Amino acid sequence: MDISIIGSGYVGLVTGACLADVGHHVICVDNDSEKVKQLKAGEIPIYEPGLEEIVHRNVSAQRLHFTGNIQEAVERSQIIFIAVPTPPLPDGDVDLSFVEKVAREIAGVLTDYRVIDKSTVPVKTGEKVVESIKRYNRQGAKFDVVSNPEFLREGCAVADLMHPDRIVIGAQSEQAIDLMKKVYEPFMAPILVTDISSAELIKHCANSFLALKISYINAVSGICEASGADVEKVADGIGMDHRIGRDFLNAGIGYGGSCFPKDIAAFIAISEQLGTPFALLKEVQRINEGQKARFLKAIRDTLWVLREKRIAVWGLTFKPDTDDIRSSVAIELVEQLLREGAHVVAYDPKGMHKARGIKAIADAEFASSALEAVTDAEALIIATDWNEFANVDLAVLKDKMRTPIVFDGRNLLNPETMRQFGFDYYSIGRASVKPQ
Ligand code: UDX
Repeated sequence: MDISIIGSGYVGLVTGACLADVGHHVICVDNDSEKVKQLKAGEIPIYEPGLEEIVHRNVSAQRLHFTGNIQEAVERSQIIFIAVPTPPLPDGDVDLSFVEKVAREIAGVLTDYRVIDKSTVPVKTGEKVVESIKRYNRQGAKFDVVSNPEFLREGCAVADLMHPDRIVIGAQSEQAIDLMKKVYEPFMAPILVTDISSAELIKHCANSFLALKISYINAVSGICEASGADVEKVADGIGMDHRIGRDFLNAGIGYGGSCFPKDIAAFIAISEQLGTPFALLKEVQRINEGQKARFLKAIRDTLWVLREKRIAVWGLTFKPDTDDIRSSVAIELVEQLLREGAHVVAYDPKGMHKARGIKAIADAEFASSALEAVTDAEALIIATDWNEFANVDLAVLKDKMRTPIVFDGRNLLNPETMRQFGFDYYSIGRASVKPQ
């Protein structure tokens, strides 16, 4: 099929590359001419495992193209995916102005029947997109708007897209449903057809439920610390119930990233606008904030004074296997430590380049390896669960540090092993380890 994707960010680029890889002809559009130039030259502006290879393969096979020209893309495609940013507004609502602008632009050049698809937006946005296209579609061309949320996670986006648990198609017309089914036929995944509003809600409900699971186990982690229980064991015990499942029950310093914080705020905002406030989600947010505060308190309680202390921070990205630092809890922690006068030495396997550009943490020192960061450190904070950190040689780590104190915000290391190596070790929801 001939498909175009408007917006070549994380979602747009991965979606475009994967759709091309299963045999469709895809045009990725972006209004950032620099980005289009980069992509045409074979440079991938983001780090996502496996993406570069897929892009190169499909560009060579002439199934994947890049352009800044939306008209050319609309004319040559049966289906147009809108994958532009939907940033949060200060009140938690979503800024849909990019979606609206693209809808107008498409409407202006629409001459034949097209299916226009868009992903994560608050419920009822589809209706507004339909109205907007009708208003600006002077030639009166027929079209359908479909809601087809993606569920990809950064760091494993290609695998998520290639092997989805389900495909959700929210549409009104049989013609649109048939075309969308053809797009996804090669993926051989279960397809759920719904109305547009239900599909829009499915995305917000899925993300907020996952965030709720994280906040649930994080709240439990506080009770574990107070009672001497072990949150990992508790998570294993409840997760073995197939109705609950072990996924997304990893306690830590809270969720971050470009999706959960934004989508939960947006879901709260739209539920209030609809007159059905979703108070439970406010508690999810409150617990998430509290988790960072509790972690910082543990650091202060142990180190007493942070001023002038040399503190290493491992991990700056919001999760492993990505270079994305948007709404990263790790960055927030670094900011707070700097505010309290600590000398922070940070290291991240992929996020250094983007982190260096953040003004709020400009006073941090950036190390070129994990072990360089801990040299002479008076404490180490593990803020992101990169595999590299889990496999560190503990004897070398201890030897490099001035005082071997580790605050593990992702429960990456084993308390018993840390005890054996003689560390002062604090983790989330597990008894802390003090050297004998
Ligand atoms: C999420 C959804 O998983 C995905 O389906 C949706 O399309 C976009 O939002 P993403 O934000 O890329 O994906 O990453 P995810 O793996 O969900 O992690 C989000 C945050 O939750 C990270 O900060 C991660 O560290 C944290 N997390 C995740 C936990 O703290 N504990 C867990 O058990 C799982």
